[in-house]
Amino acid sequence: MRNHKALGDTPPEKFRKQLHELADWIADFREHIDQLRVAPDDKPGAIRKQLPRHAPEEGEPFQKIVADIDRIIVPGMVHWSHPMFLGYFGWTSTAPGILGEIVSAPLNVNAMTWRTCPAATELETVVIDWLRYWVGLPDEFEGVVYDTASVGIMHALAVAREEAAPATRKFGLTDRNLLRLRIYTSDQAHSSAEKAAIALGVGEENVIRIPTDNQFRMDVDALGQSIAADRQNGLQPMAVVATVGTTSTASVDPVRDIGNLCHEEKIWLHIDAAYGGGFAMLQEYEWMKKGWELADSIVINPHKTIFVPLDFSVLYVRDLARLRRVFSLVPEYLRGDTVEAEKNYMDYGIQLGRRFRALKAWVIWRSLGRAGVVDRLREQIRLANLLADWIKKDDRFELSARPGMGVVCFRFVAPTRRGDAEPGSPTPATAGKLDQLNSDVVERINASGSAYLTQTKSASEMC
Ligand SMILES: Cc1ncc(COP(=O)(O)O)c(C=O)c1O
Repeated sequence: MRNHKALGDTPPEKFRKQLHELADWIADFREHIDQLRVAPDDKPGAIRKQLPRHAPEEGEPFQKIVADIDRIIVPGMVHWSHPMFLGYFGWTSTAPGILGEIVSAPLNVNAMTWRTCPAATELETVVIDWLRYWVGLPDEFEGVVYDTASVGIMHALAVAREEAAPATRKFGLTDRNLLRLRIYTSDQAHSSAEKAAIALGVGEENVIRIPTDNQFRMDVDALGQSIAADRQNGLQPMAVVATVGTTSTASVDPVRDIGNLCHEEKIWLHIDAAYGGGFAMLQEYEWMKKGWELADSIVINPHKTIFVPLDFSVLYVRDLARLRRVFSLVPEYLRGDTVEAEKNYMDYGIQLGRRFRALKAWVIWRSLGRAGVVDRLREQIRLANLLADWIKKDDRFELSARPGMGVVCFRFVAPTRRGDAEPGSPTPATAGKLDQLNSDVVERINASGSAYLTQTKSASEMC
């Protein structure tokens, strides 16, 4: 029989000591991160092999656990906050961001209703409003925080589906003689559109990829033709997803033209500004926001560009009640918790339990201030343009897309230029070899542990 006193939590003095040790661990990790490999060169399973198959029967001391983090976990990681991590989109580890995460941990509340944690609910509304003001969205857009843009688009398209096929929430899609629903997005858009179509029962085949121009922007004429053809064939256009900052090249779709078309056709317009949304805070990116006022929903990922640690994504919906009508459902045991007129964020999505994500956004945004965020975004753009200038001056490399925001797409071309083929007009065989060579170079850099890059394929050449 165990002593019941041993079943409580760690004694306060011991906990205080552990916290101090952890503070030192975090500070040391941050200070020396540049001395770590950016990425491991292990084969899949290498980390699991070093760990016991079963969880320990008896509790283990914290020091022993930290020692294993140092010995097994840290070397088995890709360090996204490493100064030579240059992959995907920039990262959001900062000292104030880490403090925001730390301070959230002891609070550990569930922000499902206003009553289950008034501060979590109200702070969520506050930071959503701050961000809306920063990026200049009209007031009729209200938002909700989710973990990711993929979850955001799924919720947005659920509302689009409800408006295209009313009462789907109640009766589902089958046995109702409904027309097949269609979603349109560019051939450069993120795969989250298909994921949403899968989850919503629309089907991934019903996501139509519209071609792009030589700057990777959606061709609006082709969009119009595709919608017209679908209508003629008895299909029902449900939504268009325009992208502001595509995943491969950070290209920006012509949102105003797309918005006008959606307006005429009465189709939901969702803007995926997961990456580009943060840059909307800059005056020089004002042009990018043309047409945002025509959207039904917009997703922005502060965990990509506005320095909030993963995960923190905001979905804005024009007239948020439309989202509430699709997802509000109050179980009996929560009825007493939902009597206040305040927002209950559980009504705006499939999640019931919700983290207090707003706190870390509030901490980082207060720590940096709007000016601090804007200056740092401008610095990212300066660095991206500097790299692009180096590439332009070095004939072993070429830009494969116009640099956009913090993204620079380039490739190594020296073999073509050295006479394998006519400069500027590589044969398909040479182009294939070049692709393979570039892919090998990226793999080797990443395996070296000294830097980390991301590879992609673009359909058109740089214009
Ligand atoms: C343009 C775009 N949209 C959506 C996403 C998905 O973001 P999340 O990981 O938050 O779901 C990404 C991810 O890189 C993206 O680049």
